Amino acid sequence: MNLVRLGDVLGPAEKGGYAVGAFNANNMEIVQAIIEAAVEERSPVIIQASQGAIKYAGLEFIVALVKTAAQNADVPVVLHLDHGTDFAQVMRCIRHGFSSVMYDGSKLPLEDNILMTSRVIEIARAVGVSVEAELGKIGGTEDDVSVEERDALFTDPREAEIFARETGVDALAIAIGTAHGVYKGEPKLDFPRLKRIRELTDVPIVLHGSSGVPDDAIRQAVELGVSKINIDTDIRQAFMGKAAEHMRENPDNIDPRKLLAPAKESAKKIIKEKMRLFGSAGKA
Ligand code: G3H
Ligand code: ZN
Repeated sequence: MNLVRLGDVLGPAEKGGYAVGAFNANNMEIVQAIIEAAVEERSPVIIQASQGAIKYAGLEFIVALVKTAAQNADVPVVLHLDHGTDFAQVMRCIRHGFSSVMYDGSKLPLEDNILMTSRVIEIARAVGVSVEAELGKIGGTEDDVSVEERDALFTDPREAEIFARETGVDALAIAIGTAHGVYKGEPKLDFPRLKRIRELTDVPIVLHGSSGVPDDAIRQAVELGVSKINIDTDIRQAFMGKAAEHMRENPDNIDPRKLLAPAKESAKKIIKEKMRLFGSAGKA
């Protein structure tokens, strides 16, 4: 299939009461793990590349990998830019064939975030690309985007209402207690805040930093209307954990395929579990 936009997968998810996983990819094996999981689970899927992934793998490589994967799959696939903070880079992603982009203006004052997000939307819409934005600050560290925990601020529902109305954005990432990376303790999500945001807006809601969030909390978030769930760290841990195990057990191995094939399978297993947890399995 050709790449689809966020609305093509999040619209049915909102109606059907489930969420679609947005999985971060940095290399070929992880792209393959995500696509094979989606096909085997009959699930729509969002494959996303961060600025760090683009820096590592190269924009053309990422696009070619995901397009090839999507063309050979019979489930809907979105190619999405994750946390694009640089306007020029967001434009480059659009030009190179991403079907969706995130413009992350969460460090900007509200007015400037609205202004910049609207600029991106005007251009993206003209060429059929969807846009996710962020309001509030999600804690933790992810690639080039680092927010001090003390600066991590939850999304104000009133601001979310204004932001959604003024921009008409396709999806909105909110801060309700999740953080990027490995949690030090158990994350506590602010569900009343999520509920209030859903009451005041009709924009699809995105949960970032979802690795390590207990399954029950994820189920509750989906019940309250979260329709895109971002997972990176859980994939990294599954992939690298298996790779490390392989090297411990086979210290003399010099064949990268023998290391990467089980690492890919380990990533695929966790991705499939997430698709079942989010309720997207069987929906494509
Ligand atoms: O944008 C990507 C995510 O928010 C991933 O967060 O690494 O905590 O799963 P995570
Ligand atoms: Zn994120």
